[in-house]
Amino acid sequence: MTDWSAKNPYSSNLTQNFVLNGEGSGKETRHVVFDLASSGLEYKAGDALGVVPVSPSKLVEDLLAASGFSGSEVVDTHMGDMELRQALTSAYEIHRLSKKWVRNLGERLEAPEEISIRLVSRTRTSTNDDTVLLDWSGSGLEGDVPSEYHEIGSVADPAIDLWNGMNGDDSKLEDYIWSRDYIDAISDFGHIISTPQQLVDGMDRLKPRLYSIASSPDYEPGTVHLTVGIVRYNHHDRDRTGLATGFLADRCKVVETDIGVFMSPTRSFILPKDLSTDIIMVGPGTGIAPFRAFLQQRDIDGATGRNWLFFGDWTESGENYYKEEMDDWKERGILTKHDLAWSRDGSEKVYVQHLMKKHGEEIWAWIDGGAYFYVCGDKSRMAKDVHKTLIGICGEHGGMSEEDAHEFVETRMMRTEKRYLRDVY
Ligand SMILES: Cc1cc2nc3c(=O)[nH]c(=O)nc-3n(C[C@H](O)[C@H](O)[C@H](O)COP(=O)(O)OP(=O)(O)OC[C@H]3O[C@@H](n4cnc5c(N)ncnc54)[C@H](O)[C@@H]3O)c2cc1C
Ligand SMILES: NC(=O)c1ccc[n+]([C@@H]2O[C@H](COP(=O)([O-])OP(=O)(O)OC[C@H]3O[C@@H](n4cnc5c(N)ncnc54)[C@H](OP(=O)(O)O)[C@@H]3O)[C@@H](O)[C@H]2O)c1
Repeated sequence: MTDWSAKNPYSSNLTQNFVLNGEGSGKETRHVVFDLASSGLEYKAGDALGVVPVSPSKLVEDLLAASGFSGSEVVDTHMGDMELRQALTSAYEIHRLSKKWVRNLGERLEAPEEISIRLVSRTRTSTNDDTVLLDWSGSGLEGDVPSEYHEIGSVADPAIDLWNGMNGDDSKLEDYIWSRDYIDAISDFGHIISTPQQLVDGMDRLKPRLYSIASSPDYEPGTVHLTVGIVRYNHHDRDRTGLATGFLADRCKVVETDIGVFMSPTRSFILPKDLSTDIIMVGPGTGIAPFRAFLQQRDIDGATGRNWLFFGDWTESGENYYKEEMDDWKERGILTKHDLAWSRDGSEKVYVQHLMKKHGEEIWAWIDGGAYFYVCGDKSRMAKDVHKTLIGICGEHGGMSEEDAHEFVETRMMRTEKRYLRDVY
């Protein structure tokens, strides 16, 4: 059996790709189903799928046009020599600037003599490729300069002012990078990029993205389901997307598009072996994904332990993902308790931890009886608040001091008994 991996992904196709949100929702969250066919890929509920995206061809062509290269030039990359067009498509992340790339340019601006030499060589490259880049004869005679030429190495070059403003000030550099890609940066710094190699040097390597699997292999044989929150934003009058989510949403056609995937198994984020153990799951937003997988698995296993799900998102009408399946599990007694926190339906925010607090006594009773406690979704805010709330509940209802409650949650539940498990990103 082939050992599929990030470097050697299995080429899969989608069987389904649809938006889960209700009409009028301000979010785009998709249910995406991959066909495993005869890949031999195996997984368990709790695992993640690695997806290998490629850059949008329009962005690649626009970047080539902005930088004045044809795309057929050969560049040296971490994946070996390849044509520039291919490198921009599958070797590098071209939708967001890297700090290293901007710093490389800054360093070159600080060595103006070197830049002049590179500018000459840029013209030679373009002439060889029959591409007219600049209205400039390149004779080298004094006064013969490209039409958009800035006096490199002097204060007259606005790129120098721009770089000086960021040099040594990480937050300004981050500000610059936040809203820009290489096309934006070329309008500021393009005149000092003279070779295709300089264009790619310092760009981030294209990395696969992980997604918590939203299906059980026993319940949905031969397929892997994902719940994907699509990242879209607009900066400097151009619509932009996250690399992998834009790829999945806009460029992955059902049956048609080949998509590289591999499994990323978990050793810790797993269901209890004992089917009679209760579980509490907290998964707002796309954090619901592994809990759909868990519920499918508990259903098919005939687990007798109780299942409690805390879910939430903006609005009930827009983001009540998998409502019909959840209702069915509730009716059949598989989903024992289901608490929903809609943060933008009322005048006050309701978050999952508010509902946890409300049901603190019962949560403590489940935990005291040996229940597993799972959290999935946003790492930066939600998971931290849920963690604090859990400690508060154990303290208040378990009759523990603050210090003992910390110890109980962070040492006993998390490390010793391994029944407080998180899949946060
Ligand atoms: C173990 C694990 C499991 C995961 N499971 C899931 C899952 O089930 N579902 C899911 O949807 N995701 C999941 N993720 C997140 C997922 O891997 C990707 O990070 C996510 O889909 C974004 O990928 P992207 O390539 O589309 O975005 P990227 O191209 O990586 O861009 C995302 C970045 O864009 C930046 N950004 C966002 N908004 C703006 C803006 N307005 N302006 C400028 N920059 C901005 C942010 O820095 C953000 O980090 C998981 C991650 C991990 C590690
Ligand atoms: N690493 C990445 O590149 C990447 C990409 C995409 C998503 N993510 C992460 O994945 C998360 C999931 O995104 P999502 O769109 O599915 O959902 P989300 O942004 O996590 O939102 C889900 C719900 O959680 C609420 N929420 C906000 N702050 C909270 C807090 N402190 N405690 C509890 N709930 C809180 C939101 O409310 P309000 O919004 O109304 O406040 C919303 O109702 C994102 O938050 C993001 O951090 C990461």
